[in-house]
Amino acid sequence: MKNLITKLRQEHYLDAEEYKALLLCRDADALKYLQEQAREVALGQFGNRVFIRGLIEISNRCRNNCYYCGIRKENQDVVRYELTQEDILDCCREGYTLGFRTFVLQGGETPATKDAWTVETISSIRQEFPDCAITLSLGEKSREAYERFFQAGANRYLLRHETHNEEHYRHLHPAGMSIKQRLQCLTWLKEIGYQTGTGIMVGSPGQSIGHLVEDILFIEQFHPEMIGIGPFIPHHDTPFATALPGSIEMTLKLLSIFRLMHPEVLLPSTTALATLSPDGRERGILAGANVVMPNLSPRDQREKYTLYDNKASLGAEAAEGLQQLEEKLAAIGYRISKERGDYSYVQC
Ligand code: 5AD
Repeated sequence: MKNLITKLRQEHYLDAEEYKALLLCRDADALKYLQEQAREVALGQFGNRVFIRGLIEISNRCRNNCYYCGIRKENQDVVRYELTQEDILDCCREGYTLGFRTFVLQGGETPATKDAWTVETISSIRQEFPDCAITLSLGEKSREAYERFFQAGANRYLLRHETHNEEHYRHLHPAGMSIKQRLQCLTWLKEIGYQTGTGIMVGSPGQSIGHLVEDILFIEQFHPEMIGIGPFIPHHDTPFATALPGSIEMTLKLLSIFRLMHPEVLLPSTTALATLSPDGRERGILAGANVVMPNLSPRDQREKYTLYDNKASLGAEAAEGLQQLEEKLAAIGYRISKERGDYSYVQC
C-alpha cells in the first residue's frame, strides 16, 4: 500500500483499481503514512499557514429540494431569512477588521430575478474592499449570470458536484436536477475564469466505494482550484433524517488523496468535519487541508442556516472566535495566514 501512496505523491494519479484499494485500506500504518505524505506536501506548498475565509450565509431561501439539505424548499420548519446588502457589507466590514481577505457569499438557489441584486451586492463589496477576494456559492445559474457576477468582481465560485454518478445523483436530488447540468455549470465557471471549486459529501446515502472512485477520477480530470469535502450529516427535517453520518476516517483519507493528487489545490477542513468531531478541523489540517472557513454571518441568523443538524457556527468556527482558532492551530504547529490566499499562491 505504501508503494501506491508514494506513487500517488510522485505521479499525482493512480488508476481506478489503485484508488479503490486505497479507499478500502484499513491498515493503520499505511493510513498514517498517507496522512504524513499529504501533510508534507501541504507544508512544502504553503508552509504551516492556513488560509481563512469569512463565510457569509446571505439567505436560506432555496428553490431546490435536495433530499439531504436542511434548507430544502419543502422544509416548512425553517424560518426563512435574507440579508440586505447593508447587512452583507457590515459582515465584510467586521471580517476585514478581523483580518479576513476573502469573503464567501453562500446561499440557497434563487430565481434569475434576483441576479441583478447579486450583481449590485458584488459590485459594492468590490468597490469597498478592492484588496479582497469574493467567492460565491450560490448554486446553479445561467452562463450569463455567472458572467455578470464575474464582471462585477467575483473571483471564485464553489459548486460541489455532490456525486459524479448519474444514478447516485438522482438518489440525492429530485427530478429536475441533473449531474449533466451541474457539470455544465462547472465548465462555464472555469471557462469564464473563476477559480472554481467542486466536491462531495462523504458518506451521503447510497454512496459506494465505486462512486467515490468516480468522483476522484472526475476531480483529477476537472482539476478544480478548490475541493470542498466534508462528511454527510443528517438533518432531522429531511428525507434522509435517519441516515447515518459519513465517516471521519474516509473524509480524512480523501483529503490526503486530493492533496497528493493536486499539491497546490485549496482544500478546506470543513465545518461538517468540525461538527462531527471536536478535533475534526485539526485532523483535517493534519491530513493535508490548508483552508478554514469561519462563520461571518450575523449571529442572530446563524441558527437558521442549518444544512444539517448541530452545524457548528460558534467558537473556532466563528469569525469572532479567530483567537480560539489561532490557539487550536498553534497546538498542532500551524498558524493563520491573513493573505488573500489565491490559487497558485507562491510562498515568499
Ligand atoms: N450534510 C453535509 N453537508 C451538506 N451539505 C448540504 N447538506 C448537507 C448535509 N446534510 C453540503 C452540500 C452543499 C454544501 C453547501 O453543503 O455538499 O454543496
